[in-house]
Amino acid sequence: MNMTINASRAIEFLKEGKVVAVPAETVYGLAADAMNPTAISKVFEIKGRPADNPLICHFHSIDQIRKYVKDIPAATEMLMQHFSPGPISCMLDLKENSPLQFATCGSAQVIARIPSHEIFLQILRGFDLPVAAPSANTSGRVSPTSAAMVERDLGNKPVGIVDGGTSGIGLESTITDARNSNEIFILRPGAIGEKEIRRILPSIKFLYEKNAINSAIPGIKYRHYAPATPVAIAHHFNDLENEKDAALLLTLEQIATLSAEQKKKFTAQKTILISLGSIRDADDIARNFYMHLAALDQSGIQKAYFLKNDWGDSSVGKALQNRIEKIVSNV
Ligand code: TXA
Ligand code: MG
Repeated sequence: MNMTINASRAIEFLKEGKVVAVPAETVYGLAADAMNPTAISKVFEIKGRPADNPLICHFHSIDQIRKYVKDIPAATEMLMQHFSPGPISCMLDLKENSPLQFATCGSAQVIARIPSHEIFLQILRGFDLPVAAPSANTSGRVSPTSAAMVERDLGNKPVGIVDGGTSGIGLESTITDARNSNEIFILRPGAIGEKEIRRILPSIKFLYEKNAINSAIPGIKYRHYAPATPVAIAHHFNDLENEKDAALLLTLEQIATLSAEQKKKFTAQKTILISLGSIRDADDIARNFYMHLAALDQSGIQKAYFLKNDWGDSSVGKALQNRIEKIVSNV
């Protein structure tokens, strides 16, 4: 069954209370009318998502967001003015009795985002109401970064799929809470990080997930971003000595350090080497990251390892480090 639809059909789907996978610059989202409880419950059912895990709401403009929130505090306004549309999401306080409370699972806060993918924006403008969209994967699995990945994961579910090519960033948006304007919680690191944010908010204090007092922190309560294949960290090539049919994920530079003897060993024990790309291009590694992980589940691999690596100081490098930690900790 081919469920590929175009943007105008996707807008009709949203109006009819149906669910549609849409491309974003970060990862594909599973979109539904954020104010339609039936549509929202379909998203939860299709993903197998715990009923108390709120959904990010997507908008086409800052002025559209303003209609639903109490206010946009100064620092958040700065973030949105500079980075939206783009891979950043901001926590805001909803107006009383908000119609978005189905999407936020009753929470008085919404995480709002304006994606930059042209097709997603076109859909948001055409629909002109908030769109709830978690990543378009079965709960607990990796986020899809292409229509083909969505199809493999959710192909037997009642969803339309809009094919917008490969997601350019490949990791989920940065989630921030800068409501009090003096400090900013990075609730989930992404392509926009401290480096970029400091340029526009030089004196704001940064706080990370582990310091956050808020209990509704993405990724803490629920297991995230993990393939079904068990994944661990290997500190050295020798850590795989007694493994059979394992995969080792590593950079091109790390592959280049393999000795001839080590290569022979790996061939003999059927260790598959999967190149994540060159460390000199963290953006490229991020773009293909979830595709490599999803491919593990397609292969007959028993166990996979990341070879320990320094992913660098860029915000994308730090986001990659964060996703790897989540995957291997399996919480
Ligand atoms: O890049 C992205 O942000 C993608 C694309 C589709 O926009 N979306 C995405 O959504 O990654 P999701 O649901 O996979 O991750 C959103 C995270 C979840 O961990 C959820 O718990 C948290 O944000 N979240 C959403 N709304 C929240 C709220 N009102 N309060 C606390 N946490 C919230
Ligand atoms: Mg997700």
